[in-house]
Amino acid sequence: MGWRGILGFEYGIVQAPLGPDISGPELVANVANAGGVGLLRAPDWESPDYLRELIRKTRSLTNKPFGVGVVLAFPHEENIKAILDEKVAVLQVYWGEFPRQLVLEAHRAGVKVIHQVGSLEEAEKALSAGVDAIIVQGHEAGGHVIGQDGLITLLPRVVDIAASQGVPVIAAGGIVDGRGYVAALALGAQGVCLGTRFLATEESYAHPTYKHMLVELDKTEYTNVFGRARWPGAPHRVLKTPFFSNLRPLLEDENEVSQPVIGHSTIHDMGKEIRLLAGTVPNVTTIGDIERMAMYAGQGVGLIKEILPAGEVIKRLVEEAQVLIGQQICGPNPINGAK
Ligand SMILES: Cc1cc2nc3c(=O)[nH]c(=O)nc-3n(C[C@H](O)[C@H](O)[C@H](O)COP(=O)(O)O)c2cc1C
Repeated sequence: MGWRGILGFEYGIVQAPLGPDISGPELVANVANAGGVGLLRAPDWESPDYLRELIRKTRSLTNKPFGVGVVLAFPHEENIKAILDEKVAVLQVYWGEFPRQLVLEAHRAGVKVIHQVGSLEEAEKALSAGVDAIIVQGHEAGGHVIGQDGLITLLPRVVDIAASQGVPVIAAGGIVDGRGYVAALALGAQGVCLGTRFLATEESYAHPTYKHMLVELDKTEYTNVFGRARWPGAPHRVLKTPFFSNLRPLLEDENEVSQPVIGHSTIHDMGKEIRLLAGTVPNVTTIGDIERMAMYAGQGVGLIKEILPAGEVIKRLVEEAQVLIGQQICGPNPINGAK
């Protein structure tokens, strides 16, 4: 059954790495303790010693396996060395090529590689590089969105090419509950990767105002207005906050650099100024005009009604999926034994 484990983990439920530091040790350890695949997020700059500390802190909170996500668009060589040295279970990569030679290096260190992709072409490249699993990101996804296709059409196409190589495929984008989980399994996925749902947990480092908005608001938009200078050509899906809804159209060359400073955050131990239109979401340390900051969210946000402990998210996903699979796929009503 698809709701069973992948890659040696108890369940095929992946907590997406949440940039820049929203998926920290507490979230990852609680996901791991509940049997899911928890992913830390490496800094967007080379900081191998700090990354080792994050990994060690996570190990002090769980003895279960977990991983680290790296965005390949930013400096990462030293960070990846630290990840392989520390021999975490999984290295997740996104937004760039990860060649065969690096996959082999990871394998030599005993680290499995999961590549998040947004198109069939990207999936083909990842498969020929020899990755251990692929996350297919649909256009519904929160945060940066690398492809154009919706999950329901892209996922089975990737499954078709990955299946012959025995590589598990994990679905990402808009999934928040057991219904989305089972739908992804029906499309051929072996697991699901949730970002927004884990953002709205007690353990995530998101600022309380951001978490509150995730519960209160239910619309998102695919846009390119945030963080244009720091990460050019990287569209993203954000929550339609009052600030975003009232934003005037930007000029083509307008970006965060010329905007006023509206707050400050400590991100991976570094003090950072946050300018208007920066692509940096508010974390627990952020002070300033929080409501005018970027707030990423996927289309499933309208289904999120409460902030939950991460372990509860996993427990409900598994229970709901089992009931749905029993009722709708294996026959009626297995819970009370009726025929
Ligand atoms: C706040 C936020 C930050 C994200 N940061 C990253 C990241 O650093 N690396 C990455 O691979 N994906 C990142 N993602 C995207 C997720 O990997 C995943 O594709 C997405 O969350 C799935 O859609 P969902 O949010 O609807 O569950 C982020 C998503 C959100 C909402």
